[in-house]
Amino acid sequence: MRKKIVAGNWKMNCDIAHTYELLDQLKERALNEDVEVIVAPPFTNLQSANQALIDSDILVAAQNMHQATNGAYTGEVSADMLKGVGIETVILGHSERRAYFHEDNALLAKKVTTALEKEMTAIFCFGEELEDRTSGNHFNLVASQLKEGLFHIEAADWKDVVLAYEPVWAIGTGETASPEQAQEMHAFVRKTITEAYSEDIANDVSILYGGSVKPANAAEIFGKPDVDGGLIGGAALDAESFAAIINAFE
Ligand code: PGA
Repeated sequence: MRKKIVAGNWKMNCDIAHTYELLDQLKERALNEDVEVIVAPPFTNLQSANQALIDSDILVAAQNMHQATNGAYTGEVSADMLKGVGIETVILGHSERRAYFHEDNALLAKKVTTALEKEMTAIFCFGEELEDRTSGNHFNLVASQLKEGLFHIEAADWKDVVLAYEPVWAIGTGETASPEQAQEMHAFVRKTITEAYSEDIANDVSILYGGSVKPANAAEIFGKPDVDGGLIGGAALDAESFAAIINAFE
């Protein structure tokens, strides 16, 4: 069943003191109860965040994980380790992971498989670079990210997948895709899923938009029929802005 979701990707921000402060400020605010709210702090603060939110409906997600169960992978964190501290949701394939840590579609396919095998929810991110958009290659590029990174999963696994369309040129740049551009791509994604799986699966999956979402533009973007929420970076670091984005849903 398609849900409304607003997820805050804190990236490499917020030490433990700031994490507690931000979560306290968020808990004080009235948040739209129709929206599933997720925060994704850095690894070191996941367990503390989860405990701080024990009496709240806000969920905690990891920003990444390794595809292997365990082993000699210095600096990495596995699905079991996340689950051991109560984390059931993981963001995979964020454009910063793709660009700075060389995560390609083949690697992401493995991470997706592991997350689903471990019964976690995967927030799968994808989106084109500016040059793909200007050359008109954005639909092809997105289709190949989905096909190569995600479409190996079984139909039954889609219930544990959330999609996040994040055009790279709109992330952290202040430049937002227009609501029409977001809608156009989200509709294309549903069509692509319909062709590969079924219309039911395409209609049931939540597709978030990410890239410079702010209180001022959230309502218009979330108002589009195929946009089910947002993956928020910068504006998620301020409780007032994040709450305003959550409450931007009708
Ligand atoms: P932004 O980041 O909202 O700061 O553009 C979005 C994201 O990277 O998920």
